[in-house]
Amino acid sequence: MSDPQPVYLSDYQPPAYRVTHTELTFDLDPAATRVKARLLIERNDQISDEAPLVLDGEQLKLISLAIDGNALTEADYQLDDNGLRIHTVPASFSLESEVEIAPSTNTALEGLYQSSGMYCTQCEAEGFRRITFYPDRPDVMATFTVTVIGDLQKEPILLANGNPVASGQLEGGRHFVKWEDPHPKPCYLFALVAGNLHKVEDHFTTMSGRDVTLQIWVEEENLDKTEHAMASLKRSMVWDEQTYGREYDLDLFMIVAVNDFNMGAMENKGLNIFNSAAVLTHPQTATDAAFQNVEGIVAHEYFHNWSGNRVTCRDWFQLSLKEGFTVFRDQCFSADTNSAPVKRIQDVSFFRTAQFAEDAGPTAHPIRPDHFIEITNFYTLTIYEKGAEVVRMLCNLVGWENFRRGSDAYFERFDGQAVTIEDFVECMAQASGEDLSQFMRWYSQAGTPEIDAYGEYDYVHSEYRLTLRQRTPATPGQPEKLPLHIPIRMGLVGTKSGQDLTLTLAGEKLGKDAVIHLRDDEHTFVFTNVAEAPVPSLLRDFSAPVKLNFPYSREELAFLLTHDSDGFNRWDAGQRLAMLALDDLIAAHRNGVEKVMDSRVTEAFRALLTGSTANKAVLSEMLTLPSEAYIAEQQPIVDVDAIHAAREFVRQSLALVLRAEFMAIFEANRTDEPYAPTPEQIAQRSLKNIALSYLMSIEDEKAVALCEEQVAADHNMTDVRHALTLLVHSDRDDLSAPALKAFGEKWAHDPLVMDQWFTIQVTRPQPDVLERVQFLMQQPAFSIKNPNKVRALIGAFAQNRVNFHRLDGKGYALLADVVIELNRLNPEIAARLVTPLTRWQRFDENRQSLMRAQLERIKKEPLSSNVYEVVEKALA
Ligand code: PHE
Ligand code: ZN
Repeated sequence: MSDPQPVYLSDYQPPAYRVTHTELTFDLDPAATRVKARLLIERNDQISDEAPLVLDGEQLKLISLAIDGNALTEADYQLDDNGLRIHTVPASFSLESEVEIAPSTNTALEGLYQSSGMYCTQCEAEGFRRITFYPDRPDVMATFTVTVIGDLQKEPILLANGNPVASGQLEGGRHFVKWEDPHPKPCYLFALVAGNLHKVEDHFTTMSGRDVTLQIWVEEENLDKTEHAMASLKRSMVWDEQTYGREYDLDLFMIVAVNDFNMGAMENKGLNIFNSAAVLTHPQTATDAAFQNVEGIVAHEYFHNWSGNRVTCRDWFQLSLKEGFTVFRDQCFSADTNSAPVKRIQDVSFFRTAQFAEDAGPTAHPIRPDHFIEITNFYTLTIYEKGAEVVRMLCNLVGWENFRRGSDAYFERFDGQAVTIEDFVECMAQASGEDLSQFMRWYSQAGTPEIDAYGEYDYVHSEYRLTLRQRTPATPGQPEKLPLHIPIRMGLVGTKSGQDLTLTLAGEKLGKDAVIHLRDDEHTFVFTNVAEAPVPSLLRDFSAPVKLNFPYSREELAFLLTHDSDGFNRWDAGQRLAMLALDDLIAAHRNGVEKVMDSRVTEAFRALLTGSTANKAVLSEMLTLPSEAYIAEQQPIVDVDAIHAAREFVRQSLALVLRAEFMAIFEANRTDEPYAPTPEQIAQRSLKNIALSYLMSIEDEKAVALCEEQVAADHNMTDVRHALTLLVHSDRDDLSAPALKAFGEKWAHDPLVMDQWFTIQVTRPQPDVLERVQFLMQQPAFSIKNPNKVRALIGAFAQNRVNFHRLDGKGYALLADVVIELNRLNPEIAARLVTPLTRWQRFDENRQSLMRAQLERIKKEPLSSNVYEVVEKALA
């Protein structure tokens, strides 16, 4: 077998044939579903009449094939593993085909498959080719009519895109429903669901007064877990009308929850399919974080109706066109709905940990890749989150009003079309008159730009000179980088006044908070009329996805922590201050020197704990230390144990000195109010629980009792999970073992709670975790075929830094075993799961060779193209 080959953006050719209308009939059966297709096809004008018709198709059993009703014989076409080529076809015709597929054995969860007994589909990116022969590419858009035939008892509910137009009973206990979707769409947005589903229904009146029926379809036992998703959906619909002027365009909008799903959710036209984890919530079963996640994902999928569905991508290299824009839209929605600064802090904190790591590793790629082997490997933090950061920069560069005009133009001009990233940026350039040509490099250059900054205050001339130098490190395939256009939002905070000073640059007054533009490799900005020595506050609100180094002293950081007018940068100053202390402690640990806590950090924490910060949500973030993963990102070579020890030392030192303050915060934020996922309550719970974490880091007897009490009170899952986690992660196995057992028994019937039960156990720092993972994999609640279970148990274990990176290499071997098994069952999940091993370059030599050995072992297997691509890059 030859190695899988990449496809290149530069090879793009418009389709030779269009499909104008698609008619499908599904006769459902677990092992032998029949799919009949009737496609109305037209040759594109510029194409010669000799051009063959090439259709994608994988794992399809061809039953029959005809053109305009005339059956084709084997001489008329050529069939292989990837599809079908019909040698000659008329300029305009109908193609009729029938194939057989087996949903019950489809463990890849792409195409038509079964999940908990129901049928569902996943077609993005290239899953439709496992359903029928078709030009499976997003620039072929057709209207669809779909008839679904199922068993009246087993599949009473039969759903597809659009509106139901007919239904009825058939012989043999079968029945059918016929659906029509009037909006032309690419086949990746096709969806079908069939099974014994139950619905919750609501209504929404659009801005032009149309009534839309909203339905959430779930298994019967989950009917009480849909309220929050429904409320989130309605808020999203209002928000998109008010913020972007976008109205929903069908009479029916459906969401379905399925248990087996590779990703979070999918924006199929009118029939969004969700991972049950991304839609179901209940105060007793879901945490605050889960509630917020559901709100964001419901919004994200809904927003795709315009940014993705009405206007879609020309080809999969343009994936960030829909994903970057839609993530930006859902981030803004969540910011408007909850606490804007906290949303930004959480997003950036995650971004700087996970996306920066991706950008620094062997799979680094631009937001618009120029080649790939397997597109499912490119649903990445770079395409999604960095893509969103770039759209955010665009929005800030042109200003919201121009951005909105550009967005209106984009939706109007390209409605019903499949377009490119240039088309989007061009709308923004036209709406604003800005030259965005240099800005386009953000789409083609991989890697995280680093800015080295330094500043000098000239007392004599009252000038502040700020020098910025940019550099983007080489990434695989991109040794040389060009300078980017980097917008830097900033202020100069007067050291005497503690206030933002007016910024005057080249004679122009910019106000107290302004954006400066770095376009060259290096530039010195000279601010004049600076009346007092300032501390610069740079990259406010994380105005660009870069690493910014400035030689701040700890005193300057402590100053910014209290005085910066930008909430994001106040938080960031605290993180930088903690990082400096952590760096010292990591070094001390490595050198075997006694660790000494930096009193400036302690005093900063004391001020936070006793001060009058009105915003509890922001305060919680400020009290959260950088994670071990984030600290690791800052180190040249990751020393797993030193990082863990240093961070624990800081937590314990703070808890010892500020015990009373943490206890006071805990007490002040307890409440018996009935649970509600409101920003106020969420902030209060999070503050209370952070205080409890610090107290538990020293296993304070009172804190242990409070944890037990909080678990026993069983008020809501956020509190229960937090306290149970603290107990399990402490050395009090005498208490945590029975608590875990009780929890596992109580929730054995609820897969989403059992996912949490797995994660709590395999993320603890104690050295028995590997054996626990092996034991839990044998439990009936675990299934390697369910992606949520794999993520909750194996994925979570691989994030357990001290245990995954054990020096005997057994953590790596365990992960490799699972990757090898999943490579056969679900290549998409296998390729994602292998990621931690691909980061071997970041570790010490011993771990490097252990990690590489496992990658080599995986490479010897007969690999799916998904895993092949990742492992190949990791070992290159
Ligand atoms: N397009 C989906 C989203 O971003 C994600 C997805 C991709 C889901 C591929 C399934 C398969 O919302
Ligand atoms: Zn998306």
